[in-house]
Amino acid sequence: MILVTGAAGMVGSHLLDVFSEGELFRTDLEEEPGIHRMDIRNHDEVMSVVGQVRPRLVIHLAAETDVDRCEREPDHAYRSNAMGTLTVASACQRYDAEMVYISTTALFDGLKPEPYTEFDAPAPQTVYARSKWEGEKIVQSLLSRHYVVRAGWMFGGRAKDKKFVGKIAALCMRQDSGTNEIKAVNDKFGSPTYARDLLHTTKLLSESGLFGLYHVVNTGSCTRYEMAVEIAKILGGHVKVVPVTSDAFVLSAPRAQSEAARSYKIELLGLKHVREWREALQDYLGSWAIHTGTAAPNAFNGDLLAKAMAAGASAAHDLTPPNGREAGSDAP
Ligand SMILES: NC(=O)c1ccc[n+]([C@@H]2O[C@H](COP(=O)([O-])OP(=O)(O)OC[C@H]3O[C@@H](n4cnc5c(N)ncnc54)[C@H](OP(=O)(O)O)[C@@H]3O)[C@@H](O)[C@H]2O)c1
Repeated sequence: MILVTGAAGMVGSHLLDVFSEGELFRTDLEEEPGIHRMDIRNHDEVMSVVGQVRPRLVIHLAAETDVDRCEREPDHAYRSNAMGTLTVASACQRYDAEMVYISTTALFDGLKPEPYTEFDAPAPQTVYARSKWEGEKIVQSLLSRHYVVRAGWMFGGRAKDKKFVGKIAALCMRQDSGTNEIKAVNDKFGSPTYARDLLHTTKLLSESGLFGLYHVVNTGSCTRYEMAVEIAKILGGHVKVVPVTSDAFVLSAPRAQSEAARSYKIELLGLKHVREWREALQDYLGSWAIHTGTAAPNAFNGDLLAKAMAAGASAAHDLTPPNGREAGSDAP
């Protein structure tokens, strides 16, 4: 059995694309169909649930991912992301489970011109990044059988996607007259990471026995502006994407110049090629369109979308409907 924390979130909503329902015990803050309650800040609750389920593997997704909230409420950030991880890791230690901890590529100083690898030293600049890095260190010090998996700019969630890609996609599909203008930041870089691809590669890693720290991001890097342009290209629609500098948006937490990363250890091991981000984005938008039901193929000029939807439809017949909840504001 695989126990998952934070299973109702964006990444969690792709679990059933990759794992069978029977092998999963999914948990989150609130109970909902298919998901059991487990608050990772509650030591007794975590010990009791893990003690009853006795998983062979725990995939720890639960976190406070609202970067600006973390900056404003550091106690909450450290309680959730560091101490919550301590609780989950101690339960794994007590009940002899392996652990996957999903971390972030946002924990570097942001100054490196090339994508960051696992061999670069973290220098987190925000409370969110510091709290996630503390989580990494806790997992690494408590458990020898762990996988720390750092992801980049995450996208996914389909019908419940209220983050960057979901917002831009919804604007693209608006059927009102006139052209919608979308402003997107063009001076900060990251590596998009499709939640489904992240889980696929994580599954592969967890079957390898090659414990340790890994970056798992789609290949390539871009700005949010370049991502928005790509979304508009795939979906069509009457939108004009306008590049702006990051000072156009006032945010509580500073965003690093670069969070771009490379899945370097996976490349070196020859384990798996994580596909290029544009291909993953096209695939996701096809699945997003099917699940939201808001997009008709060939509406506007979305030939690429029609192709992605056709691919999604052939893969979708055996998928359980998405179970993700509304996501909070974007993680880095
Ligand atoms: N999103 C990104 O861009 C990104 C990038 C890199 C790495 N990551 C990491 O990837 C993992 C999954 O992220 P995601 O994008 O799926 O985030 P998400 O959509 O915010 O999902 C996280 C889930 O964890 C739940 N949760 C929060 N506090 C909890 C607690 N104390 N006990 C149990 N559950 C709790 C959340 O519930 P509520 O919604 O009710 O709070 C939510 O359902 C996180 O560890 C995150 O740090 C995310």
